[in-house]
Order: sequence, then structure tokens, then C-alpha cells
Amino acid sequence: MLYRKLGQTDIDASVVALGAWAIGGWMWGGCEEADAVRAIQASLDHGVNLIDTAPIYGYGRSERIVGKAIRSRRSQVVLATKCGLRWDLAEPHGVLHFQGDDLGIVRDGTPGKYHVYKYLHPDSIRLELEGSLQRLGTDYVDLYQTHWQDETTPIDETMAALETLRDQGKIRAIGISNANRDQLVAYGPIDGDQERYSMLDRRMEQDGCLEYCRANHISVLAYSPLVHGLLTGKITPQTQFHPGDLRIGNPRFSPDSLRRIQVLLAGFAPIARAHGASLAQLVIAWTFSRPGLTHVLCGARNERQAIENARAGELPLAQDEIEAIDELIRKHLKGQQ
Ligand SMILES: NC(=O)c1ccc[n+]([C@@H]2O[C@H](COP(=O)([O-])OP(=O)(O)OC[C@H]3O[C@@H](n4cnc5c(N)ncnc54)[C@H](OP(=O)(O)O)[C@@H]3O)[C@@H](O)[C@H]2O)c1
Repeated sequence: MLYRKLGQTDIDASVVALGAWAIGGWMWGGCEEADAVRAIQASLDHGVNLIDTAPIYGYGRSERIVGKAIRSRRSQVVLATKCGLRWDLAEPHGVLHFQGDDLGIVRDGTPGKYHVYKYLHPDSIRLELEGSLQRLGTDYVDLYQTHWQDETTPIDETMAALETLRDQGKIRAIGISNANRDQLVAYGPIDGDQERYSMLDRRMEQDGCLEYCRANHISVLAYSPLVHGLLTGKITPQTQFHPGDLRIGNPRFSPDSLRRIQVLLAGFAPIARAHGASLAQLVIAWTFSRPGLTHVLCGARNERQAIENARAGELPLAQDEIEAIDELIRKHLKGQQ
């Protein structure tokens, strides 16, 4: 496994990280707790030390499962969680982000069981951190990230609250997520930026955020690098998802899109074969080879996926292989325009 420093800290974090969103079950058609615990422990056994979760993933469930799985191994883990999505406010604050239920986001206009607000007021952050520490069974978080940005709270107030928590030793590094370039710059000296990034999602390159982070020693954590499993090659038009799975109705999982993805992945296959690697491993290794892209947050719901993804952290891709993959992606993306 390859490790990289987190931002300007002395924390060594694995390039392949385990994302614990699906582990909460919410938006992913459920998840077995025993499988999730084994996935987390297998990741640690295979060199992954960076684990990313959030209070909203299963409304606390993901954090509780992560806490249970790492109980006897806390010092081995670079534990990342988030703040700023509140489903438990007595009164509305911040910006309504979505309405949800126990399965996922409610999109049919009916009132959801939960009203989820983007809210980053300092008092709220302090309260949220206490909840996360309790669920995770720890007294510090390694990387604390603002999950979504709240336009009603000035960024300098949010940042001051995070810096105080860092001074108190409750968090070791500060990160943000789902931020545009102006917000990224306004935060100042942070350690991490967690954004959607994959072969098919290149916004961070287009708006200069990736380059900004590289130049300012901010780690970049790519989320959904496998496009929710699409780039593993296992999804076919016949794949059945459980109720609540976010892939149902997503145009990227339509039969037409799947056909085009199969063509892209067929182009990768000889390179993967030459390394004895799977397509998922090749995609993960390509992702952490991008300049400025330091960590790849792979979701995994079971031990097999966790081990396969972790092993990608040892896959060396040669420059000519990276260029060949780039060319195939360029052709694929051009075909979409
Ligand atoms: N900050 C944010 O707003 C934000 C947003 C999204 C994600 N994230 C973070 O990023 C992490 C990863 O995102 P993601 O879960 O969307 O992305 P992903 O890594 O693109 O997809 C994960 C899913 O793909 C399937 N999969 C993973 N590895 C596989 C393998 N080796 N073989 C076959 N299938 C495999 C699994 O689902 P199935 O088994 O069901 O197919 C898994 O749950 C999240 O867990 C979370 O920590 C953050």
C-alpha cells in the first residue's frame, strides 16, 4: 500500500481508502452489519488505514458500525467523518438539502420522514462532533470535513470553530467536501478536499480545484471513483438493485449507457490482464495516479470487495499504460457530446 501525508499534517493515509456510505445501508438498498464489519477489518488487514464515514450515512448507523469494527484498533486508523448535514433539528436552520426516509432520498414530492439541512454554524458543529465521537467510540477524529456547504453561515465562522476543535485535540485535520472553487479558496489552510472524481467525473480538473489543491498541499479525496460500481464491469442491464438503491433510475445505469461502458472497459482489459488485476483495481490505480489526486475513497460492502480494492494500492501503472487509458477515456467522453 502506498501512503501519502494528509494535507500539511504528519498523518500518513493510505491512497486507497474505505468509504463507509454503503455500509450505512441508506441509499444502497440495505447492508448486512456483519458483512460491513468484516469489510472494514479486512481493509485494515490489507493496508488501508483511511476510513471515511458521515453521520448522515444511515442516520448514524455507518458511524456506529465503523466504531464497532475499529474498537480494538483505533490507533491504526485515520478516521474521517463529517459535519453539516442535520436531520435532527427541532427547527429549520441553514438550507434544506433534501427530504429523506430510512431507505434514501424522497423524490416523489411526498413529505419525507427526515428534513435534512445543510448547516455549519459553530454551535451545530460542536454538537455534531460530540455525537460522532460517541457513535464512533473514540475521543478524536483524524479528519473532520464539512459535508456540504451552507451558504447561510460565513465560512470564516465555520473555519474558526474547526480550528478551535483542532486546538482542543478533538480533531487532527480539517477538510471540506462538495465545495466550489470560491468556497475552497475562502476556507484558507485546510488539509483535505473530498469531491466527486472519477474517469467520468472530471469537474475538479475543469474548474482548477485539483490544481489549486496540489499547489496548496491540500489532499484530494476522490469520492465515487468506481461510479457506484459501474466501472467494475459487473453491472449489466439484468442487474437487479434492492429498493432504495440510488442506482435505480440513474441514467448512467441505463442499457444504452451500460453498452458504452462495456466498450470502454473492454479497452482496459488487456492492461488489467497484463498486471493480473481486475478492472476495478485498474480504475482505482489510474485514479490515484492523477497529479494532485491523493486518495481514492472506494465503497465496499463486503470482505471480497474490500480486499480487491485495497490491493489496488500496490498496482504500479507505467506512464504508457496511463496514456493508453487516458486515450480510451477521451474517446468515450467524446462520444457522449
Ligand atoms: N462527500 C460526499 O458527498 C460523498 C458522496 C459520495 C460518496 N462519498 C464517499 O466516497 C465513498 C465511495 O463512494 P461510492 O460508494 O459512491 O463509490 P464507489 O466506490 O464508486 O462505489 C462503491 C460501490 O461499488 C461496488 N463495489 C465496490 N468495489 C467493488 C468491487 N471491487 N467489485 C465489485 N463491486 C464493487 C459496491 O456496491 P454493490 O456491491 O452494491 O454493487 C460499493 O458499495 C463513500 O462510501 C463515501 O465515503 C462522499
